Amino acid sequence: MHVGFIIEHWDNLEPTKSSTLLMIKECLHRNHRVSILYTNNLTVRNNVVHGYIYTLKPMDKIPENVTTFYNKVEFERSMSALHAFDCIMIRKDPPINPIVFNFLDAIKDEVIIINDLDGIRKANNKLYTTTFHDPNNTYLPITHVSGSKKFINRIIDESKKEKMILKPLDGSGGRGVIVLEKNARTNINSLLDFYISDSGDNYVIIQEYIEGAEDGDVRVLMLNGNPIGAYHRKPAAGEVRANIQAGGSAHKYTMTEGQKKICKKIGAKLISDGLFFVGLDMIGDKILEVNVLNPGGITNINRLNKVKLQKQLVDFLEEKVEEKLEKRIELEYLLKRLSDLRE
Ligand SMILES: Nc1ncnc2c1ncn2[C@@H]1O[C@H](COP(=O)(O)OP(=O)(O)O)[C@@H](O)[C@H]1O
Ligand SMILES: [Mg+2]
Repeated sequence: MHVGFIIEHWDNLEPTKSSTLLMIKECLHRNHRVSILYTNNLTVRNNVVHGYIYTLKPMDKIPENVTTFYNKVEFERSMSALHAFDCIMIRKDPPINPIVFNFLDAIKDEVIIINDLDGIRKANNKLYTTTFHDPNNTYLPITHVSGSKKFINRIIDESKKEKMILKPLDGSGGRGVIVLEKNARTNINSLLDFYISDSGDNYVIIQEYIEGAEDGDVRVLMLNGNPIGAYHRKPAAGEVRANIQAGGSAHKYTMTEGQKKICKKIGAKLISDGLFFVGLDMIGDKILEVNVLNPGGITNINRLNKVKLQKQLVDFLEEKVEEKLEKRIELEYLLKRLSDLRE
C-alpha cells in the first residue's frame, strides 16, 4: 500500500525519540511505499487535491539502527494527487490550520485517514472530554472552561481546595499549564489578562489539582479503542508538568484495573468518533486530556516494555485499508448486478 505521513518536517524528527519514524520504518520493512507530506504545500489542480510528496527511495537493506536509517533515507519529490494514497497518518503537532482539513475532506471517502477528520475536529482542543458527560467526576477531574475573568474568579472563590490548575484550552506539551494557589491571589487578575483577551474569545481551563500529581502522570496509548501500552512521566524537580517536553522523565508503568476500566469505557466512543490512535494523559483514575493529533510515547514504551508498538500500528493500518478495499469490491459487485438486472 501507499502510506502518506503528514509531519512537521523531516529535518526536525529526532530519530531516537520519534514514534513517527518507527512507523515509517515498519511500513518500509513490509514493502509499503511511504511518502511524507507537509501541510504548507497542498494545492488544488483543476478541482483535484494534490501535494508535493516526498517518497522514500527503496533501500537495498533497511538499517536496523533507527538513526542510521534516518540518515540514509533519500527522497524523490513529485506532485501527486492525494487520492492516490491508500492511507494517510496525520502526525503533526497541534494546532493545524483548519484549511488543511478542508483539503483532506476532498479525499476522505477514498483514503483511510488516521485519525478521522471529523474526529480531529471534535477533539481539536481540551473541550472534547466534556462530550464524555461525567458530571459526577467518576473519571474526569472537576473542570471549568471559560473566557470570562469574572467567572474564573468566582470558581477560585468557591473552590474548597487550595490548589487549582490553569491552562490554555488548546495548549500542548505543557505550555501555559500553571498552578494557582487560592491564598496567593495577587497575580491572578494580571495572569487572566494575559491568558484571556478582552474580546473574551479565547478560553482557559480551570481544573482541580489532582491528588498525586506530584508523582507525575501516565500516558496511555489507545489503538482502536484499546490500550496498547502505557508509561509513567515524572516531572522534573520543582515542576508541575510531567510532559517530556517540559523536562519530565519516562518510567515503566503497569496500568491499574481502574485505569483499564476507564479505557474500556471510553474506547467505544473514541472509535465512534473516528479517533483510532490517541494518547490519554491520566493521573490516577482521572483523564486529563485526549491527544489525537500526534501522540508520542511509542519509543519510550518500546524501550521500557521491550515491545514494538509500531507493528501493531501498521497491522491496524493494513486492516483498515483491506476492509475498505473489500467494501469497495462488494459495492462494485452489487452495482454490476443491479445494472445486469436492469438490462
Ligand atoms: N488538573 C491537574 N492536576 C495536576 N497536574 C496537572 C493537571 N492538569 C495538568 N497537569 C500537569 O500538567 C501536564 C500537562 O497538562 P495537560 O492537560 O496534559 O496539557 P498539555 O496538552 O499541555 O499536555 C500534565 O501532564 C500534568 O503533569
Ligand atoms: Mg498532555
